[in-house]
Amino acid sequence: MGKKRTVKDIRLMKGGRQKITVLTAYDAPMAALLDQSGVDILMVGDSLGMVVLGLDSTVPVTMEQMLHHAAAVSRGRKSALVIADMPFGSYLVDLRETVNNGVRFLKEAGCDAVKLEGGETVCAEVCALVRAGVPVMGHLGVTPQTAGQLGGFKIQGKGLEAGRKMLADARALEEAGAFALVLECIPGSLAEVISRGVGIPTIGIGAGPHCDGQVLVTNDMFGLFEEFTPSFAKKYLNLAPRMKDAVSLFQEEVQSSMFPAPEHTFTTDEDYSSLLES
Ligand code: KIV
Repeated sequence: MGKKRTVKDIRLMKGGRQKITVLTAYDAPMAALLDQSGVDILMVGDSLGMVVLGLDSTVPVTMEQMLHHAAAVSRGRKSALVIADMPFGSYLVDLRETVNNGVRFLKEAGCDAVKLEGGETVCAEVCALVRAGVPVMGHLGVTPQTAGQLGGFKIQGKGLEAGRKMLADARALEEAGAFALVLECIPGSLAEVISRGVGIPTIGIGAGPHCDGQVLVTNDMFGLFEEFTPSFAKKYLNLAPRMKDAVSLFQEEVQSSMFPAPEHTFTTDEDYSSLLES
């Protein structure tokens, strides 16, 4: 187990030889497993809505749901930095409420930082959170909470004008005090320019190899979804069919009384059959 990561450690990894590794987590046992494997950051993404809660999008995810899962992840980690997504509607509506919500992630859920989506439009929020002592990670490119306004989950930043705007957004977030930035689903060459153009670490997802770090949704990398895996996500394991095979075997063994075997059964010298004799 390494020493506990801090926001400062992550900032110092900018442009370094060792890239920053980020995986999503939604519960304590998975957080512990990823933490023991040495992942730098555990991201309690609002992808929780789709990955765990069976929702169609991230929009309905609530503060209470995020706090509940973020607290579990914090309990499971020892070394990694824990960052939680501020859910849709928990920021931008009212600045005081934004700060109160951000503070709750640190005080109630034991997180180290929060992430919120958007560029120049969220800079006042980023500034206020940072001033209140809540470290903030930005998120540009495909921003799932407002994917409808972007025309769905499609590549962003195509064309010089869109690229220039995204670079300006990235610089504005840095200026506002964000300590790092997720770049989701943008051309690799634009991610490279943004990574060179800001002084804070960039974390890519579908943004090519030139970011300072990479994030994946853990369920995608483990192959837990059979229906859909984004083209940019690499499946490091294909667990879904193996889990189904294990369930079939369990059913077979229960139905044929092969399970539980003697080694799964508690024994005693007592003869309980006398209990039926009266
Ligand atoms: O919600 C999420 O899981 C995310 C990461 C993929 C960056 O925002």
